[in-house]
Amino acid sequence: MVINSSLNKEETNNNESSKVAQRKSQILDSNASFNDLKTENDELNNLRPKSFKDYIGQEQLQEILRISIAAAKQRNDIASLGHILLYGPPGLGKTSCAYILAKELGTNAHIFSAPALERPKDILGILMSVKEGDVVFIDEIHRLNKVTEELLYPALEDFEIDLNSGKSESARVMRFQLNKFILVGATTKLGYISAPLRDRFIHLYRMEYYKDEELALIIEKNCPKLNISLDDDAKLILASRSRGTPRIANRLLRLTRDFAHYKGKTQICKTTAIESLNLYQIDSAGLDAMDQKILLTMINQYKGGPVGLETISMLVGEDKTTIEDYYEPFLVQSGFLMRTPRGRVVTDKAHEYFQKN
Ligand SMILES: Nc1ncnc2c1ncn2[C@@H]1O[C@H](COP(=O)(O)OP(=O)(O)O)[C@@H](O)[C@H]1O
Ligand SMILES: [Mg+2]
Repeated sequence: MVINSSLNKEETNNNESSKVAQRKSQILDSNASFNDLKTENDELNNLRPKSFKDYIGQEQLQEILRISIAAAKQRNDIASLGHILLYGPPGLGKTSCAYILAKELGTNAHIFSAPALERPKDILGILMSVKEGDVVFIDEIHRLNKVTEELLYPALEDFEIDLNSGKSESARVMRFQLNKFILVGATTKLGYISAPLRDRFIHLYRMEYYKDEELALIIEKNCPKLNISLDDDAKLILASRSRGTPRIANRLLRLTRDFAHYKGKTQICKTTAIESLNLYQIDSAGLDAMDQKILLTMINQYKGGPVGLETISMLVGEDKTTIEDYYEPFLVQSGFLMRTPRGRVVTDKAHEYFQKN
């Protein structure tokens, strides 16, 4: 009995210390400054744009930031640029934008994801260590817990935080002055952000899907980094199947690179690009196997709908949130799916598409 309980205790301790270590490493990993980008995946980091010159598209966002950066520099008060909230689907360049912003300002970027900021200590540690004008990026900011979020309010507004010292009666609240920083929040779900948090951002920007020509340009810039060359038609084929998303364009480029290298080619033409994307089950509209499964299941089993998200999730065996955050936005944007109060409905365009293909 005693042995068991001490074993359990040791196990708990081990679990605790591994949890702490895990949390620490999450923070350390994500605390990389722009110059420390060489983390676990050099190739991916290499593809990340390092300046506005390499950041393609999102013209309005770039213009807003250029103006605000110049104005804040003129005032000699970088943080007066204000906090920025970027919202929209994943892979459209939110994290990259935060890195570039810090680089243009000549300050550090501290990159975090909200679920890693679980305890009040986590956010306090970050805020107390930022330097004047640093960029603090919080991904999935809608997932911050209430306590952390409330700690952020005075920090965002007045660059101050309240620290409790002591317990019960002897407790005192001490006000702590922070260096002025810029918070860049990113979210896929604007509606899940509370009004008090949302209202503390000066800039709210909706990330747009990219045009095919923009994606083709991103592909072109990344070809030499991947030691591959695509002709213009091949670039456009990849771009048109990238769901308007640079991260996916890069992924398709890497897959096609593998396919071509396997075939002993370094120059990719339209035919090789199509052959390669067929192998990876990316069809001519950029639909992957799961997109097709979602639409075809709805058509075959529910005559196109309406079908509830829960039912779709069960039928195709994919997590509800993944369907909602990853698959649906593109299917809706590209006119294959509609969201109605009664559920999801497949459009005429989708019916016709599958009759033809
Ligand atoms: N505007 C852009 N120009 C060039 N490449 C981009 C752009 N936006 C994103 N990318 C590429 O897509 C990848 C994913 O972008 P990221 O900033 O991580 O997206 P998000 O944070 O919105 O999920 C980046 O590593 C980069 O290679
Ligand atoms: Mg990101």
